[in-house]
Amino acid sequence: MQGLFPLNHPPPWLDCIGMALLQAPVGTRDLLPEELAAWRHVEGRSRDWFERYGYQELRTPLFEYADLFQRGIGEVTDIVEKEMYTFSRGERLYALRPEQTASIVRAYIEHDWASTRRFRKFWYMGPQFRHERKQRHRYRQFYQMGVEAIGSTSPTVDAETMVLAWRLLRDLGVRDLVTELNTIGCAACRPAFRERLREATIPRQAELCPHCQRRLERNVLRLLDCKEPGCAAIARELPRVVDHLCEGCGAHFDAVRGALDALAVEYRVNPLIVRGLDYYSRTVCEFSSPGLGGSQNALGGGGRYDGLLPLLGGPDVGAVGFALGTDRIVEALGAPLAAPPAMDAYVVAVDEESRRDCLLLAERMRTAGLSCELDHEGRSLQKQLRQAHRLGALRSVVVGPEERGRRVARVKVMETGEEREVAFDDLARPEGVAPRGP
Ligand code: HAM
Repeated sequence: MQGLFPLNHPPPWLDCIGMALLQAPVGTRDLLPEELAAWRHVEGRSRDWFERYGYQELRTPLFEYADLFQRGIGEVTDIVEKEMYTFSRGERLYALRPEQTASIVRAYIEHDWASTRRFRKFWYMGPQFRHERKQRHRYRQFYQMGVEAIGSTSPTVDAETMVLAWRLLRDLGVRDLVTELNTIGCAACRPAFRERLREATIPRQAELCPHCQRRLERNVLRLLDCKEPGCAAIARELPRVVDHLCEGCGAHFDAVRGALDALAVEYRVNPLIVRGLDYYSRTVCEFSSPGLGGSQNALGGGGRYDGLLPLLGGPDVGAVGFALGTDRIVEALGAPLAAPPAMDAYVVAVDEESRRDCLLLAERMRTAGLSCELDHEGRSLQKQLRQAHRLGALRSVVVGPEERGRRVARVKVMETGEEREVAFDDLARPEGVAPRGP
């Protein structure tokens, strides 16, 4: 840094020890206007699909009491152990939400929805926060769009949520979409499977990555989805949950697959999918796009979490959902940066005295639903017209002393040069600066 900037003239965004002060924190970024067209498209389509399937929007706080996530997501998960942004005020510890399922369940219990209409479907979208290692397609503030269907244990609800995510991702145009399904059993059959898995892995313990060596004792199921090539090779030879299900879980899995087949969803069963949050039981699913590149190619995931409501003190009513990563979907679509949207008009003042009329005319057009801009800096006529071009205005609306006297403006179609006079009172009418008029 010292070589770049003379010490007596540091740029204002460097502090005295050379730290960048005016930079977004690592793992966060600004979403720029030209990027947001793609974001708004993705979010708009998602909203549309969510509501077709009967989901209603629910907005929960950006932060919650930390113990909601500690208990809900699980103490021995990466998210809770290493990635939560926590802070305390007074006696309580809070956390920025690392995901939203626990918050939605908290709201369901808090509002006692089980006692009025038990089966509820909610969608949400917004930022989530995880202090993860910075990597391509991985952010510390990222965005999710998700749904949670709470109040049913029926396998057709699992299938319905999966088909929704699948249809949405296909509709958005995600290429090489991979949809994977698995089951991880329930509180009745999983403990025995876990023990079996541990026993089968112990002889190969030395070959595991250090992370998985720890997992062997603390969270053995997670061994199955380790991305390290050595661990992944071992995982393929280990016992599979699907072969060790209790009767209820076996029947549930068959029913989910039957419904997905009937709905003609293109998916495959991947026995190595176990998910990174502790609340799941039975169905789990993931959506990915290998074309995204890098190891972070999961576009979304979800599953059933029947145990979470009782765990948090709520009714035992069953729940299932998924969340999609908006950042990654936008990146997978590779949408080109958008040009600024065309503006209906740019109002140009020829002289100082016309500026007030220009302000009023712009206001009148805006209230009539037209988009327009005008100069606030006292620029010359030439510069105002140049600015109108730069902003992509469809028309210029010019007011000078002569026009002012007659209460008219000169309206010119920028592309063709076609020009006519329009009375001030008619500017915001269809015959004035309306989309088709000159
Ligand atoms: P998750 O798998 O942790 O599940 O996150 C879902 C999706 O969010 C991921 O597949 C990924 O696309 C995106 N995502 C996660 N972390 C990051 C990150 N650091 N940077 C960018 N994108 C990221 C959940 O959060 C569960 N709540 C899903 C769920 C809903 N299960 C049931 N209901």
